[in-house]
Amino acid sequence: MTHILCIGAGYVGGPTMAVIAEKCPDITVTVVDINQDKIAAWNSDNLPIFEPGLPAVVERARGRNLFFSTDIPNAIRTADIIFVSVNTPTKTFGAGAGMAADLQYFEKTARQILQYANGPKIVVEKSTLPVRTAVAMERILNANGQQFEVLSNPEFLAEGTAIQDLYQPDRVLIGGKDTESGRAAVEKLASVYLHWVPNERIIRTNVWSSELSKLAANAFLAQKISSINAISAICEKTEANVSEVAHAIGQDRRIGSRFLNASVGFGGSCFKKDILNLVYLCQTYGLHEVAEYWHQVVKLNEYQTKRFVDNILTQLFQTVSGKKIALFGFAFKANTGDTRESAAIYVARQLIEERAELSICDPQALLNAQKDLAGYEHQIEYSKDPYRAAQGAHAIAILTEWPEFQTLDYKKIYESMEKPAFLFDGRNLLDHRLLFELGFNVFPIGRPSLRHY
Ligand SMILES: NC(=O)c1ccc[n+]([C@@H]2O[C@H](COP(=O)([O-])OP(=O)(O)OC[C@H]3O[C@@H](n4cnc5c(N)ncnc54)[C@H](O)[C@@H]3O)[C@@H](O)[C@H]2O)c1
Repeated sequence: MTHILCIGAGYVGGPTMAVIAEKCPDITVTVVDINQDKIAAWNSDNLPIFEPGLPAVVERARGRNLFFSTDIPNAIRTADIIFVSVNTPTKTFGAGAGMAADLQYFEKTARQILQYANGPKIVVEKSTLPVRTAVAMERILNANGQQFEVLSNPEFLAEGTAIQDLYQPDRVLIGGKDTESGRAAVEKLASVYLHWVPNERIIRTNVWSSELSKLAANAFLAQKISSINAISAICEKTEANVSEVAHAIGQDRRIGSRFLNASVGFGGSCFKKDILNLVYLCQTYGLHEVAEYWHQVVKLNEYQTKRFVDNILTQLFQTVSGKKIALFGFAFKANTGDTRESAAIYVARQLIEERAELSICDPQALLNAQKDLAGYEHQIEYSKDPYRAAQGAHAIAILTEWPEFQTLDYKKIYESMEKPAFLFDGRNLLDHRLLFELGFNVFPIGRPSLRHY
C-alpha cells in the first residue's frame, strides 16, 4: 500500500488530500501540520475552512484512509510520497522584501524530511514556488547521500469551487527530471491521479516549466481581471457599460467570456503574491521590462480598489466621519471564508481612517474579518444579518458577490437607512435600476451611476 503524506493542512493541503483519499481507497493519506488547533478542527465536525462539498468528502474518507495528525516525524518515516503544501507568503524582511517569496516554511519542511526520513522518497512541491526552487530542495534533501526525487505538482484549484476543481481538473501538471529515476517518480505520482483523472489531462514537463506554469497561470488570470477593471474606469468616463463591453469581447473565443467581471479588485492569497514573485524573478534575471509589465497588473488592482473608496468619499459629500457605512461581504470572493488580500480589508481600513463607523456583514468571513481589523473594534460592528448591518447607514458597499445579497428586501433596507441613501456595488451584483427606483443613489463599477440629483 502506498503511503502519502502532506505537510501543511491549509486551503490546499486539506481539500487536495481529502479528494486523493476519497478517490484512492488503496492509498493511505496522512495530513500533518504544526498548528495543533487546525489538526483538531480537521478531526472534528467543524472543519477549519469553509469550502462547499468538503465536509462530505472528508467524512467519507476520514478514519478509513485519511488521517490528520501532528506527529510529523512518524508520518515522514512511513511515507513513500511527501507533498509539501505549506504557505509561501511574500517576504516581509531583507532582500526582496515585499516581492520575493518567503521560503522559510518551505525550507524547514525539507530539513524535517531529511531529519526523519529513513529511505528514498518522492518529495512533491505542491506549494507555489519561484522557478528553480526544486534545485535548492534537492540539494538540501540529498545533502547526506540519500536519494530523493523532487517533483513539481502545482495546485490549480480555486477556493469556493475546490472540490469540483479537484474532481475534474482542467489538467494535472507534473514536472520531473528527465532521468530514469525522475521519469519513474513522475509516473508514480501520475498513477495516483490516474485513479480518477484521464491520462490526457496529466501533463508531464520538466521541473522548471511546471514551477513557472503556476506563476504564469496566476499572472494571466489576474491580468484578465486587471484588464477589464482598466476598461471599467474608461466606461465610467464615457457612459459605456463594462458588462456590455465584457459580453461583446468575451464572445471572441480567443478572449473567452470567463474572468471578465469588473469589480472592486481581485484578492485572495495567491494572485498578488505570485505575480510579485514573478516580478522579482524577472528583476533577478535583469528582465526589467518584463517585470514592469507584470507589476502593472498588481498596480492596476490597487488603483481599482482605491478608486472605489475615493468614489465613496466623493459621493458622501467628501466626509464619512461619524457616518455608518455597511460593508456587505468581506471574503475575497463568494463561497469562501478566506479574507486573505481581500479588497474589503483595504476598503475598511481607508474608511476607518476617514473615521467612518462600519458595520460588516458576511455569511462566512466574520471571524477572519475580526482578525484582519483587530484594533479597530470601537469603530466596527459585525453582524450576519444584513438588515441589522444596514440599519441607520448612509451607504452600503457590496464587496463580495454572495448570492444571498441579491435576494434581500432592499425596500425594507432603504427605509431603515439615513437619506440620501447610497449603494456602491463593487461587484455589479444587484439590479441597479430597481434600487434606483426604490430611492437609492447607485454607483456600480464601469456603468453609469443612477442618482436622484
Ligand atoms: N489557497 C489557494 O487557493 C491556493 C491555490 C493554489 C496554490 N496555492 C499555494 O499552496 C500553498 C499553500 O497555500 P494554502 O492556501 O493552503 O496555505 P495555508 O496557509 O492555508 O496552509 C499552509 C499550512 O502549512 C502549515 N505549515 C507551515 N509550515 C509548516 C511546517 N514546517 N510543518 C507543518 N505544517 C506547516 C501552516 O500551519 C498552514 O496550516 C501556497 O504556496 C499557495 O500559494 C494556494
